[in-house]
Amino acid sequence: VASLQEALFSLHPAGFTRKDSTLKTQLVCLIMVVPESQGELYHPPPDLQRDAHVPDFSSYVGMYKKSLENPEAFWKEVADEFFWKKPATGPMLQYNFDATKGNIFVKCMEGAKTNMCYNVLDRHVREGNLSEKVAYYWEGNSPEHHTTITYGQMLSSVCRCANVLKRMGVRKGDRVSIYLPMIPELVYTMLACARIGAVHSVVFAGFSSDSLCERIMDAQSSVLVTVDGVYRGDKLINLKQISDEALEKTTSRIYISRFQTPWDSERDEWWDEAMSDSSEDCEPEWLDAEDPLFILYTSGSTGKPKGVVHTVAGYLLYTFLTFKCVFDYHHDDVYWCTADIGWITGHSYITYGPLANGATSVLFEGIPVHPHVGRFWEIIEKYKVTKFYTAPTAIRLLMKYGQEPLYDLSSLRILGTVGEPINPEAWLWYYKTVGQSRCPVVDTFWQTETGGHVLTPLPAATPLKPGSATFPFFGVEPTILNEHGEEVEGEAEGYLPWPGIMRTVYENHERFENTYFKKFPGFYVTGDGARRDKDGYFWITGRIDDMLNVSGHLLSTAEVEAALTLHSAVSEAAVVSRPHQVKGECLYCFVTLKDSWEFDKKTVAELKTLVREKIGPIATPDFIQNAPALPKTRSGKIMRRILRQIARNEKDLGDLSTLADPKVVEVLFSQRSKAA
Ligand code: PRX
Repeated sequence: VASLQEALFSLHPAGFTRKDSTLKTQLVCLIMVVPESQGELYHPPPDLQRDAHVPDFSSYVGMYKKSLENPEAFWKEVADEFFWKKPATGPMLQYNFDATKGNIFVKCMEGAKTNMCYNVLDRHVREGNLSEKVAYYWEGNSPEHHTTITYGQMLSSVCRCANVLKRMGVRKGDRVSIYLPMIPELVYTMLACARIGAVHSVVFAGFSSDSLCERIMDAQSSVLVTVDGVYRGDKLINLKQISDEALEKTTSRIYISRFQTPWDSERDEWWDEAMSDSSEDCEPEWLDAEDPLFILYTSGSTGKPKGVVHTVAGYLLYTFLTFKCVFDYHHDDVYWCTADIGWITGHSYITYGPLANGATSVLFEGIPVHPHVGRFWEIIEKYKVTKFYTAPTAIRLLMKYGQEPLYDLSSLRILGTVGEPINPEAWLWYYKTVGQSRCPVVDTFWQTETGGHVLTPLPAATPLKPGSATFPFFGVEPTILNEHGEEVEGEAEGYLPWPGIMRTVYENHERFENTYFKKFPGFYVTGDGARRDKDGYFWITGRIDDMLNVSGHLLSTAEVEAALTLHSAVSEAAVVSRPHQVKGECLYCFVTLKDSWEFDKKTVAELKTLVREKIGPIATPDFIQNAPALPKTRSGKIMRRILRQIARNEKDLGDLSTLADPKVVEVLFSQRSKAA
């Protein structure tokens, strides 16, 4: 490749000749707003390029082209890394993304039989001689608590747990809910499910009992694995009590680890007791490639969370390859992703992707600022972390505490970020202060639904622009459409899906089709705004639907509004986002109170508590404002654009002629200063 410009040009859709002109397109972003960055390019360091899997931009372009032009050969090569009890009888990928042509579906390696747990544990222990290799350095909430878990130890714990689940009656296809903090038992239980073909549904241990209950009921889980309590910083959180509250409304059994706690001997079992007389031998259940591996709930714009379903083979291939290439994984790496396994980042890049590669990872139970603000840097120094993956919200938080982490960070080679758009200021601090200007920052854009990275730099190949997720990963072609479904740049043409894309919404395929495929037939719609600059770099600008991204966690406005209106004082509520220095976005709520109620501190406090209780602490509103009336169109639709501008104190509101009563706006501005 003669120049970057030329290489980038060759990435534009118009630059490809299709072998199969009937293929139809996939990943879509919508509407663009960000001004073009004229900033500097940050080039990969030559020493990283020397032994990288994708050593330069032309290699990336070559592999990318192959992934689109010959996906069969491309993914077959990846599949050859793994153990298949029975080979595939169908092609690597089959799909339909166009609802006008029948049901939406994606299949990877139809006919193949395999087991995820076998591939991420037994394969390394038996075939790869990695029994003694550290799978996880577990670091507790308190620095005094830590332990090391090898691949061999993992395999035996997972088999014991699998046998306990079997003894409890869990069979292939049954669902198991997991409500655990970041302790090794969380990974053991996920893999035990994978081993016996049960479908795990991990619920983030910061969710409330109502949220937990809703997820258990939707998945119809027969077992819940939880813990009596966890310290998050100085705060003790009684997860068993929350679980008991959730279970009061369900028929499930509970299976528990750690400490003293109220007990229902008909229903509850101790982890340690159950595990102690359980065998270490457990033959894996050989599953079909398209059998479900897990359900993970993500917020939906209607308010009810969606149970995103991922299946065995495609998810294995995709998390394996993205982890290997995006973090340029090598055998001696110590990798650390600070996410919680309760979210997709933890599923793909703490559990499955790293284990599929035989990697050594840090598993961290704590928070960045406990017992001191240097905890992240201390852990990097302690374990000599080489690849570090965190969220913009954590970077912004730690930026506030000073310019120089006072620890030895010289082991670091690659930095990663995920979850929300990263502002260039935070990117540059991360790059210069944490990475000491020698570690590429991979800004990975993806979703629960995509299973793995879809837009991302490759650290030794891609020149970086701060704030841009740069280019597509192999197999993915991003396209930007305007609201009429027209391509903004390049031609609308189509490709295969990537293997890791979700297959359905649990027990609701119609919702899957309607949410992601209905609006623009032939495309998977991400729901994010984006633009592509003159060099072909993608810039994600945030959600364009009624979703909020608070500290990298998606919340739906409808879900928070539903919680607020449960209060007897509230007749109507509308929630919008407002920029926040650390969290990226925060919740700004407008509430209309019933006639006899006064908007006072007590009501505001009750409303905040109510939202915490119904959804969880991540959804706690930052601001609640009195709204004697909401700005509505004549047909009664709330104009959220106006509410967003009021929340941000933007006075120039543009055209208000569609409002039924424009005076409402003045009143809302006058009430703004009393928001609390
Ligand atoms: O809005 C995008 C944002 O997070 C959304 C997906 O959220 P979730 O399914 O919870 O998964 C988060 C972790 C993968 C996206 O629709 N998002 C994620 N990564 C980025 C991002 N926005 C900008 N840049 C990113 N790197």
